[in-house]
Amino acid sequence: MRLIIYTGKGGTGKTVTSCSTAIKLAEYGHKTLVISSDPAHTLSDAFMMPDISYQVQEILPKLNVLQIDPVTEMRNQFDTTLSYMASIFSAKGIDETLAYEIAMLPGMTQLFSLLKVEELVKQKRFDVIVIDMPASGEALRYLYFPKLVGSIGRKMAGLLGMFSGVTRIFQVLSKNPIPTKDNIQVEADLLNRIQDLSEIIQNNDMTSIRLVVNPDTFSIENAKRALMSASLFGINVDLAIINKIMPSQTSDRYYANWAVFQGGKVEEARSNFYPLPLKEIHLHNTELRGLEMLRNNGELLFGNEDPSQIYYRGKAISFATEENSLRMTVKVPFTEKDDFDLERHGDQLTIKVKNPVGYIANIIPLPSAALTMKLVKAKLNGDELNVIFTRGI
Ligand SMILES: Nc1ncnc2c1ncn2[C@@H]1O[C@H](COP(=O)(O)OP(=O)(O)O)[C@@H](O)[C@H]1O
Ligand SMILES: [Mg+2]
Repeated sequence: MRLIIYTGKGGTGKTVTSCSTAIKLAEYGHKTLVISSDPAHTLSDAFMMPDISYQVQEILPKLNVLQIDPVTEMRNQFDTTLSYMASIFSAKGIDETLAYEIAMLPGMTQLFSLLKVEELVKQKRFDVIVIDMPASGEALRYLYFPKLVGSIGRKMAGLLGMFSGVTRIFQVLSKNPIPTKDNIQVEADLLNRIQDLSEIIQNNDMTSIRLVVNPDTFSIENAKRALMSASLFGINVDLAIINKIMPSQTSDRYYANWAVFQGGKVEEARSNFYPLPLKEIHLHNTELRGLEMLRNNGELLFGNEDPSQIYYRGKAISFATEENSLRMTVKVPFTEKDDFDLERHGDQLTIKVKNPVGYIANIIPLPSAALTMKLVKAKLNGDELNVIFTRGI
């Protein structure tokens, strides 16, 4: 079973790329499901099929589609939590419409769609699931979450965790939001499911993230951050797609300028994403949508390749032991020497990496061999951070 996740900045072409990939996968005979949790109708718009609903639906042989509605998912999966929220709401005379708005908070949508994915993976109904993920950064945060919580302690986690953001909102609205036992149980179950989900996502034989960028600075920077955090967290990124490249043969000065600019950006992306395989797709002569155009786009993307293959495997974190020392290597592309902050707490190493929006922290459990060792050196070697531990005297 394969899980292929398309991520990238808004408007780069994640939805159309997901659909094109899914069409091609189905043609290769894989039982395929393409999932979008973008606002309603995304898949309808892309396939130009008005009646794609919130149920899994086969629209072509082996090609299934599912538009996820976060509110439906929330209702199905977190009934107790929802009724807890609702009781607070109604006590305050706030109507349920607000629950909808809260479910749409950045990140929440994606979390609920990812939990749906966890359910679908467990059911083993499909050979390949393609996920059309909304905006990069937020989405991935939830995948890292279980690891971080694991280090704080699962008991605390329920209260500190991902629902705390929501709970805090309720606390503002209501003065007495004491979570019930049921509520805490729901949070614990939820954490277990996020934990399972994170194992699925970190299984490099199953899951691949694919980056969709356009030939512009903003989307490339965005994808570089996604690549770095995925790399830090041991999630395999196997392909990058540069979409919407303007044709360079033009007599018009205005378009010629753009073509030169984009040519530079394509070069930049090639070197930035190296050694990741890269595919280039031109800007079609009209808006890319509808089955025929999507199929054609899938052809341009994959030709006679099976899109379910793993295009690249880079080991994000590895350990090598010698007699008295241990070397840990972490792939950290696009960082500079002074961007790191390492902290060790017993059997865990926290790596903080600076990026333009702040720090990304990863907590890496150390092998037991490291327990009796001291962290002696950290050195950046190209895109690899080498951390050396040595046994003390
Ligand atoms: N290569 C392309 N050529 C022409 N139009 C494209 C191309 N890629 C995407 N589009 C159009 O750009 C818009 C945004 O694409 P979409 O897949 O919805 O982006 P995202 O899901 O990343 O926000 C849509 O109107 C889509 O039809
Ligand atoms: Mg989209």
